[in-house]
Amino acid sequence: MVIAIDGPAASGKGTLARRLASHLGRPHLDTGLLYRAVARDLLDRNEPLSDPEAAARAAAALDTAALDDPRLRSREMGEAASIVSAVASVRETLLAFQRRFAAQPGGAVLDGRDIGTVVCPEADLKLYVTASPEERARRRQRELAQSGQPSDYETVLTDIQRRDARDQGRPNAPLRQADDAVLLDTTELDAEAAFRQALVIVEARLRV
Ligand code: CDP
Repeated sequence: MVIAIDGPAASGKGTLARRLASHLGRPHLDTGLLYRAVARDLLDRNEPLSDPEAAARAAAALDTAALDDPRLRSREMGEAASIVSAVASVRETLLAFQRRFAAQPGGAVLDGRDIGTVVCPEADLKLYVTASPEERARRRQRELAQSGQPSDYETVLTDIQRRDARDQGRPNAPLRQADDAVLLDTTELDAEAAFRQALVIVEARLRV
């Protein structure tokens, strides 16, 4: 079973994807990390984030087996990833890897912005996970604090809103809910409740 989970920044899609994958015993790919890692590699080489050639080179040379670098989780890298991810050649280069990941026997869980619309349009189940910008900002602020990056609420909220606008407004694979995706609004749900609701949807889909 291939499960595609999309949604805006800090909506809880990553946590949900991880929990579903672990529950179902399937591999999980956080596709945001791919864009974050391309951004890191460009920044490390002092190359411009939106230069299509430099960005395509960085995407082609990406070490997809090393996505556990804690630097990828920073606020700055989220912003840089959103700039790099608007470059068509980067998306094109990362597409093949994501599709191969999804095609593993037994399926996989992938989360990102365009999984249900572009990467896996034939996914068995698509979830679109969202929450109000204010709630997402509170969650992201908490997450950053836990990883030793204290930040103020207003800055995080502005970041999230800017990133949403960029991700939704780009011509290439913009963030949007696929027509056949199930909407999961987690504004009033904690991680456990969101997981329970998603599981009900998955189990119903497994029965048909
Ligand atoms: O964790 P958070 O939702 O803040 O971000 P992320 O999923 O790590 O993604 C970082 C950035 O990468 C996003 O703002 C998008 O611009 C980009 N991205 C994308 O364009 N397509 C994906 N499938 C995943 C991420």
